[in-house]
Amino acid sequence: MKFFIDTANLDEIREAHSLGLVDGVTTNPSLCAKVGIKTDKQFEDLIRQICELVQAPVSAEVTAVDEAGMLAEARRYAKITDCVAVKIPMTPDGLKATRKLADEGIKVNVTLIFQPLQALLAAKAGAAYVSPFIGRLDDISQRGMECVEQIVTIFENYGFDTEIIVASIRNPVHVLEGALAGADIATVPYGVIMQLIKHPLTDIGLKKFLEDWERTRKS
Ligand code: G3P
Repeated sequence: MKFFIDTANLDEIREAHSLGLVDGVTTNPSLCAKVGIKTDKQFEDLIRQICELVQAPVSAEVTAVDEAGMLAEARRYAKITDCVAVKIPMTPDGLKATRKLADEGIKVNVTLIFQPLQALLAAKAGAAYVSPFIGRLDDISQRGMECVEQIVTIFENYGFDTEIIVASIRNPVHVLEGALAGADIATVPYGVIMQLIKHPLTDIGLKKFLEDWERTRKS
């Protein structure tokens, strides 16, 4: 399973990258707003810096909602570096833009997917990635992971190459269940990556090892 980090924060990306846990990065307008990105230039500079740092797929999301606007933004972002995958929302205009961009060889990550047939449509339109939002489904008392499980089955049934990104991850169980379901990628917020590393028995075990070692050396 590949790990992407779901953030626009360069410090978080740098730290997770040094842990060897960044196979890619996903951003969205909310995450960019959180780090104070205000202009198109700032956004493109940020995407460029992230690409230079990770040398791996980086999703940059369009903010236009009409096909022509999406295409213009997507083509601009795709020119930043080869690492850029353009994030397009799951709408009729988004599907039209996805088809055109895929035909031009631009990787598209279709985002805001909440049911498996949306993922099937995105795959048929040529998307390189689909992003089902698990946490937001859980938030409304619907089991988000069921969506991922069904997408895995559908893509296997028909041999789609489109990769499934488990998105809107809120906790380690989402990563575990995504891996068990056979999703290709989990895009994980920094805090959850750190939670994945920690286990209380690891800390207790390490403390005991060091205490035993010190006691022997002093005796
Ligand atoms: O990148 C999109 C997605 O992961 C958003 O997560 O926590 O805002 O639902 P969240």
